[in-house]
Amino acid sequence: MKRKSRREFFSTAAAGAAALAATGRAGLFSASPRATETLAVLGGAPVRTKPFPSWPVVKENDEKSWADVLRIGRWCRLDGSYATRFEKAWAEALGAKYCLATASGTTALLTSLNALDIAPGDEVLVPPYTFVATVNVVFMQHALPVFVDTDRETFQMDAGKLEAAITPRTRCILPVHLGGSPADLDTILAVAKAHNLTVLEDACQAHLAEWKHQKVSTIGDLGCFSFQASKNLNSGEGGAILTNNQELIERCRSFYNNGRGAGTYWASYVRNGCNHRMTEFQAALLLAQMSRLQAQSELRTQNAEYLTRQLREIPGITPARMYEGTTRNAYHLYMFRYDASRFQGLPRERFLKALEAEGIPCSYGYTPLNKEPFVENTLKSRGFQKIYTEQELASYRERNHCPENDRLCGEAVWMYQTMLLGTKQDMDQIAEAIRKIQKSAGELARS
Ligand SMILES: Cc1ncc(COP(=O)(O)O)c(C=O)c1O
Repeated sequence: MKRKSRREFFSTAAAGAAALAATGRAGLFSASPRATETLAVLGGAPVRTKPFPSWPVVKENDEKSWADVLRIGRWCRLDGSYATRFEKAWAEALGAKYCLATASGTTALLTSLNALDIAPGDEVLVPPYTFVATVNVVFMQHALPVFVDTDRETFQMDAGKLEAAITPRTRCILPVHLGGSPADLDTILAVAKAHNLTVLEDACQAHLAEWKHQKVSTIGDLGCFSFQASKNLNSGEGGAILTNNQELIERCRSFYNNGRGAGTYWASYVRNGCNHRMTEFQAALLLAQMSRLQAQSELRTQNAEYLTRQLREIPGITPARMYEGTTRNAYHLYMFRYDASRFQGLPRERFLKALEAEGIPCSYGYTPLNKEPFVENTLKSRGFQKIYTEQELASYRERNHCPENDRLCGEAVWMYQTMLLGTKQDMDQIAEAIRKIQKSAGELARS
């Protein structure tokens, strides 16, 4: 099965079901009672033909906000007011003292690592089950991302394995709240404290998620968000850094603004820096989109919990578990593990194809990131060869094993946040489609 990127997924999630409707099977929508026993992938009627909710949601306030920036003509945040207003609103929504709006989640992470002074020779503990940006930014500092294996039950970094990964070079832990579900922050913070390490939370997928009633991103030293088009809060591209630490936010602000100092002349520079500023257009959209975030988040939670109750009853389907400290999951992804042995040996790729044919968009998600060619190619690059000895790189390679993550990458199934913005009946149809496939899994496996 061809791997589908998140971006492709979003354009096909709605379009796929719409296409089915256009083939003349539209009358079968709400199809559940009428769906035949024959799997759609084998020529039967699909469980579902109606598209899931489309994304982004655009209302009058988005148009007004965006057009206002256009008309005012102050499109850069250095002249305008929208980015500042968004920073204030987002910090307030999360209960943080400071927020800095950036061009993307990647640039938010990169700016944060600069503020934390992560440098060549340092090691940063990262999960292998994440989007590549989490790891790329560490390499961009010419530091080494040390992969800590995954807890298969939760899909998160296994915090119980952090201690074993620490060396005298370790400077920072970079946990990801994958899929919107918080990583085990109690253990992460305790290990960081014991070893004098900083914590940078990658909350790029975790808008409004909470650990013990505190918003993630505000618990470590710094936390980062993405507002890229697929995210639960979306401005096409965009990002933010959150912290309660004034010194750190000033370092971030300086780095992301070409190294300018606070309140200094525009052509006066206090450090090396870059331009990672958010535009006024992005900020205007975010302020408008934020008006719906809370209600959308509540709906996702209701639907996800309802779906989990159903999927738990299906042998071979195991929804991702949350850690006890989780008081709110943002459900950017709905993730579960698929056990082919309970589906008469039907390989996951064929299960996914069958599910798509039933009108349920899905994906197998990440590949083992620590084994992707970019890791070895970076280690072999001129810069890294200059900084690290052969012995140091050999030791790094030896430590780069994540067997649990390898296993998870072979059994994971994802569905996306927009699907959770639908109705209970939509959730029923997801469960119904899986049960239907399970019933005929033997026939499908043999076909
Ligand atoms: C976990 C994680 N980290 C970092 C990023 C990078 O964010 P962006 O795409 O906004 O640069 C993303 C977004 O795709 C992400 O999902």
